[in-house]
Amino acid sequence: MSSEQGSTTLPSAVDAGLGPTGRPVTEFPEPRVLESHGPARVIAMVNQKGGVGKTTSTINLGAALAEAGRKVLLVDFDPQGALSAGLGTNPHELDVTVYNMLMDRKVTIHDAIQHTAIENIDLLPANIDLSAAEVQLVNEVAREQVLDRALRKVSDDYDVILIDCQPSLGLLTVNALTAAHGVIIPLICEFFALRAVALLVETIEKVQDRLNPRLQIDGVLATMYDARTLHSREVIARLVEAFGDKVFETVIKRTIKFADATVAAEPITSYAANHSGADAYRRLAKELISRGGAP
Ligand SMILES: Nc1ncnc2c1ncn2[C@@H]1O[C@H](COP(=O)(O)OP(=O)(O)OP(=O)(O)O)[C@@H](O)[C@H]1O
Ligand SMILES: [Mg+2]
Repeated sequence: MSSEQGSTTLPSAVDAGLGPTGRPVTEFPEPRVLESHGPARVIAMVNQKGGVGKTTSTINLGAALAEAGRKVLLVDFDPQGALSAGLGTNPHELDVTVYNMLMDRKVTIHDAIQHTAIENIDLLPANIDLSAAEVQLVNEVAREQVLDRALRKVSDDYDVILIDCQPSLGLLTVNALTAAHGVIIPLICEFFALRAVALLVETIEKVQDRLNPRLQIDGVLATMYDARTLHSREVIARLVEAFGDKVFETVIKRTIKFADATVAAEPITSYAANHSGADAYRRLAKELISRGGAP
């Protein structure tokens, strides 16, 4: 029995040798060494709810994949520029961002991509300029495919491209879904967060039907999990009911270290390399690779 006080207790699955999703804990294999790189698998990190861990998961899953020798491009597709800032770039000082690449035919993706301080990670940065793109793209021909066309030009340079989406299901997110092979849905372990998922899945299905038949849900990632609360455990149980094996066995616990790493503008894998939060994202990278979501 769990030892929490002042609330109802349930036998914790963890105590029975099972992981938080109720499945036996799997030892995922070490990723194989890649002899060559590309073509990239493109993954959109999507949830129209704010503050669920999209950006944190983009940075740290990206860093864990990079540690495993994968060449990674992280795409900031949110005008807030949090991903860019989280990698040490000041988004407001940039002249060329993903916005210019989308809107100006003379600007190529190569002009916008930056190397970062982290080995194997490049960044396609964004800043507040991107907020205009949603409106401006409406008049473009093939407006849903603009990002896809740009990313194809660098596909051979990377093994994985992760797109950090803004909290909306507007045209930018549809662009990300159209460019992607897979979607990862980060989801905070709280009941109200479950409600947003139905609409998200509907949007993913529409994009599959109309724009991108190859698109699949790679997995649902439970974030900010607190093993001590019944609430967190119940949310995961509901997720497993709805998504079955699509729920990653790896869950990300709630810890202040993620916010600390953001302030330091570093992934947790380098900021606190031995912290359990860093290990969680390393395990997620292995799990993703083992289910074919990344090379
Ligand atoms: N596992 C975690 N434990 C504790 N705090 C976390 C965790 N993951 C993320 N956070 C914090 O929660 C906040 C929101 O996270 P994040 O920015 O990654 O969410 P988001 O989905 O990208 O938000 P937005 O929709 O605004 O882009 C941040 O302050 C982040 O540091
Ligand atoms: Mg974000």
